[in-house]
Amino acid sequence: MKRRHFIYRLGVGSVTSVAGVNLLQSCMKHDMLPGKEAYVSVVEPEFNQLLPIPNTVVNPVNFPLTALQTSASVRKGKNTAVLGFTPNATSNPIFRVDNGKRFSAHYTNQTGEKSNIHWHGLVIPPAMDGHPEATIPDKGTFNFNFLVNQRAGTYWYHPHPHGNTARQVYMGMAGMFIVQDEEELQLGLPAGEYELPLLLSDKRIATDGSLLYKPSMEEVMTGFMGETVVVNGAAGPFHEIAPATYRLRILNASNARIYNLGFGTGNNFLLIGGDGGLLERPQQVTRVLLSPGERVDLLVDFSTFNTNQVYLRSETFSEGGAAQGQQGFNLLLFKVTKPGAKMYTIPPTLSAVTPLPPPAKTRTFTLDMMDSSAGHGSHGNKGGMGMHRINQKLYDPARVDETVLSGDTEVWVFDNTKGDEPHPMHLHGLLFRVIERKGQRGIQPHERGWKDTVLVAPGELVKVQITFPAHPGRFVVHCHNLEHEDDGMMLQFEIK
Ligand code: C2O
Ligand code: CU
Ligand code: CU
Repeated sequence: MKRRHFIYRLGVGSVTSVAGVNLLQSCMKHDMLPGKEAYVSVVEPEFNQLLPIPNTVVNPVNFPLTALQTSASVRKGKNTAVLGFTPNATSNPIFRVDNGKRFSAHYTNQTGEKSNIHWHGLVIPPAMDGHPEATIPDKGTFNFNFLVNQRAGTYWYHPHPHGNTARQVYMGMAGMFIVQDEEELQLGLPAGEYELPLLLSDKRIATDGSLLYKPSMEEVMTGFMGETVVVNGAAGPFHEIAPATYRLRILNASNARIYNLGFGTGNNFLLIGGDGGLLERPQQVTRVLLSPGERVDLLVDFSTFNTNQVYLRSETFSEGGAAQGQQGFNLLLFKVTKPGAKMYTIPPTLSAVTPLPPPAKTRTFTLDMMDSSAGHGSHGNKGGMGMHRINQKLYDPARVDETVLSGDTEVWVFDNTKGDEPHPMHLHGLLFRVIERKGQRGIQPHERGWKDTVLVAPGELVKVQITFPAHPGRFVVHCHNLEHEDDGMMLQFEIK
């Protein structure tokens, strides 16, 4: 095997270098340069754009949710064509719903292409879940209507049309869905202007300000990454704060990029929740590794920072394979300019995280590459390469891969011990618990509560425990690196 290096230039002038190893024979036919590891360096913009704060819609009834082509200033002073749910905005509405209430939205598709909505992390029936085959044609409508019946937490929504999920999410269609409940409200956590929703994603922006999305074969391998990281859709954002305790709800809505979040000062902060809501107790940390699809809930006391300018940033990490983690970069500038606010005392116990019953069954999912000795194999879907597989299988909507029983508890094992790429594995329609990780690291602090997405880094094996809900029908399990997902790294399970 030959190692090659090449460099190409992006419109914005940043340099991306790609070190190629493990040359796949089939790549040669695609008129692309060989290489497996595309490293896209982040280029920090000036932090001179106000952080957009998405609108919050509380307990919506028949909310008019229109998916549309619009434009927004992703970079300061430039208008960029995006897809979204709000005209001329970089960020989409946040739905905030009380546990026990029904949510309803009248969805209209004006994107010019088929699309749909998946409610990531919500435990709802399959007809409402936005299955990759349940697409809505351009100009089509759909009435979403479901009971919200789960713990408080930061969930989210995004389109899921198979083969085009990555592009549609990248173009801007993602937002938060916050569930609140009594248990959480009792804690009196920082709210209002002291609660900040932060949706992270990365874009490749051309000189004219347009968003580029055209993954090369290397980028189907690594996932598509951009040189510009945006927060709530804006590049180079800053936010003015008081020296007080803030609650930051952070969602990694990037297609592929993983962030090792922390503060430029190295100060510690409290992790209070993950995907499926509050942890039992706050965990003091200085970093949290957040892969695509995952969320964290943090309490940050800026009065302890001793500075009036602090960056939320991503530090280097080693769990990202060869394409990620080699670089630290800033994401969001906090300017401490407002008067001090009242002190917030953190409760020692946040929530009851119930233990799970003993599992009845274990299933193993091997995360693998195409078996190169078997040739190029099926081209799966829509020009995908079909290189990423689960148990050597590519997604096939006509096939049910696993059948489970509602009410049963099982252990699902994600085995990436032979892999060299990180895979954030996600299941639809339920929440699980991470019970074991084998490899360099153990269960992470943000993984000690309920989850729906878990990072399985190269060399790791991760076990999750699930009790299947009483929603019979078909759901999917997939990698939330969206290029991997569109490439076919997804299986179907049916709850009976
Ligand atoms: Cu957020 Cu099927 O994914
Ligand atoms: Cu999901
Ligand atoms: Cu993957």
